[in-house]
Amino acid sequence: MRLDRLLVTVGLGSRTQVQRLIRSGAVAVDGQTLRDPGSQIREDAAVAVSGQAVDTRQERHILLNKPAGVLTAARDSRQETVMSLLPPAFTSLGCMPVGRLDKDTTGLLLLTTDGEMAHRLLSPARYVDKVYLAEVDGPLTAAHIEAFAAGLNLGDFVAAPAALDILESGEARALARVTVHEGRFHQVKRMFEAVGRTVLTLRRERFGPLTLPEDLTAGQWRELTGEELAEVRRAVGMEAER
Ligand code: URA
Repeated sequence: MRLDRLLVTVGLGSRTQVQRLIRSGAVAVDGQTLRDPGSQIREDAAVAVSGQAVDTRQERHILLNKPAGVLTAARDSRQETVMSLLPPAFTSLGCMPVGRLDKDTTGLLLLTTDGEMAHRLLSPARYVDKVYLAEVDGPLTAAHIEAFAAGLNLGDFVAAPAALDILESGEARALARVTVHEGRFHQVKRMFEAVGRTVLTLRRERFGPLTLPEDLTAGQWRELTGEELAEVRRAVGMEAER
């Protein structure tokens, strides 16, 4: 890859800015200063700018604890998106959210540069489990568990059977864990509406093999560990490809 292109891709600036940087002698590759922006370099070369090592990995996989109030989108002209919570390099690398959480939903959101993996994770045929913690505005009973297990008719589609695990139930409020395989727009909220309950708060705790880490507070993110990535790839039948 061309040196200037690599530096743009990893978020060091526009093409003009990085070309200026390279010509100024600030960029070293494998310990040697390169002043030609068109220099061809290996993807695994060690790149440093002003003596600081630059992370040039092109494939990135992020686990974000999405806070309420930000949109799950790669970009939006008016509202703050989840991308604003990450360093700009992730946007220039093409890292995208896998599926969508509503603006007021919190919890586990995976973002990846791997379009094929994202596509497979979202495919209804793969039945990737998603587990949500839902707080609703009234009591939940065995009848609700049965209704979720039977598959709810939501008008434009019938939701596949889902597991409802009641954690607390009182007159004005209940807390439950819901496991769904699908990911339709407002799916969990619509399932509760169908049984006469309004969701007050919703948090995703699991997505396929990934669990929201307890030490990741709202708005924080980290890269997937090698083990987590391997599990995700295995879950979508990509394990043999690397
Ligand atoms: N179901 C919803 O209703 N909202 C979400 O954000 C995720 C699942």
